[in-house]
Amino acid sequence: EKGGFEHFMLKEIYEQPKTIRDTLSCRMTADGKQVRFDELNWTPEDVRSIGKVLIIACGTAYHAGLLAKYFIEKLARIPVEVDIASEYRYRDPLTDSKTLSIIISQSGETIDTLAALKEAKRRGARSLAVTNVVGSSVSREADQVVYTWAGPEIAVASTKAYTTQLAALLLLAIYMGQLNGVLTTTAVTKLLQDLKKVPDQCEDIFSQVNTVKALAKAFTDHEDAFFIGRSMDYGLAMEGALKLKEISYIHAEAYAGGELKHGTLALIVPGIPVIALATQGDVEEKMISNIKEVKARDAYVIGIAKASDREVGKTVDVVLHVPDSDNFVVPILAVIPLQLLAYYAAVLKGNDVDKPRNLAKSVTVE
Ligand code: M6R
Repeated sequence: EKGGFEHFMLKEIYEQPKTIRDTLSCRMTADGKQVRFDELNWTPEDVRSIGKVLIIACGTAYHAGLLAKYFIEKLARIPVEVDIASEYRYRDPLTDSKTLSIIISQSGETIDTLAALKEAKRRGARSLAVTNVVGSSVSREADQVVYTWAGPEIAVASTKAYTTQLAALLLLAIYMGQLNGVLTTTAVTKLLQDLKKVPDQCEDIFSQVNTVKALAKAFTDHEDAFFIGRSMDYGLAMEGALKLKEISYIHAEAYAGGELKHGTLALIVPGIPVIALATQGDVEEKMISNIKEVKARDAYVIGIAKASDREVGKTVDVVLHVPDSDNFVVPILAVIPLQLLAYYAAVLKGNDVDKPRNLAKSVTVE
């Protein structure tokens, strides 16, 4: 059942071209120029009546929500708040009937997420579930459902569910921007063209697996690692750090590049691994300054940049390239090397990769 792979996690990483393709294909018009969501069938008025989007999730699904905030705010110009389910449910939130709550959950059974969905509904919010399991509790409780077609995810560490969540949420943001008139047809078509390339572009990353494997050694010699990024790369940094923590048991912290000076730089010592995500063109210059800050303290910096980038490579110790793509699309690709780094670090440490200590696949008790 592991299809020749040593672990489910690795198998699931390699399934991503297919799962992303499945999640995308049913949501584009035949000419590839528009987004369609037959399961939503919204009118322009449905989108215009949304005062605020509230995204609720846990763990990796929460990290997908952090990126969705950028997607929706930039592409549909609707304000978005992202909350951890266990925080939302106890904070007497300002949610009302003008709120669209988007609940993200791979399993659809996470207890805090389900309770937060009920709380948002109780306060009058409309609800939309983004989930991977047909008929799950969250899918039954929400007003509408968008399924990620990732197939069963067995490994505790979420990989293919995350990238299909990003794909579905990006499509949703485009759909909203298309309906409320914020996005031009040309802009939609361009985004969709780049999205359609992602499944094949994943193979390009897989072809660098031996380099990634060798780099994983940089982690196992250290007790700490840092992930830095700006804009959407900051959300990705959080996901990269979580992946490393949960399966390799190496302490990892994610920082927004601009926050380094506000405390974390004190922890940068010679040789410490820092993963610098630098895929976002509009903040690249700022990110390069942040890389220089950690390089000046002799950190060992692994950069992640777009293939055509010429600048990042000059400042880091080693750079992993991901295929060129739109800023909104590239995170789907850039997370794959992070998944592989965490995987190989865990394998090197001899850990039980698919069943990390103390963790369960789905958290159904509080
Ligand atoms: O099934 P859910 O998406 O609701 O699960 C949420 C988290 O428990 C989950 O993403 C967890 O953080 C993963 N183990 C991360 O890899």
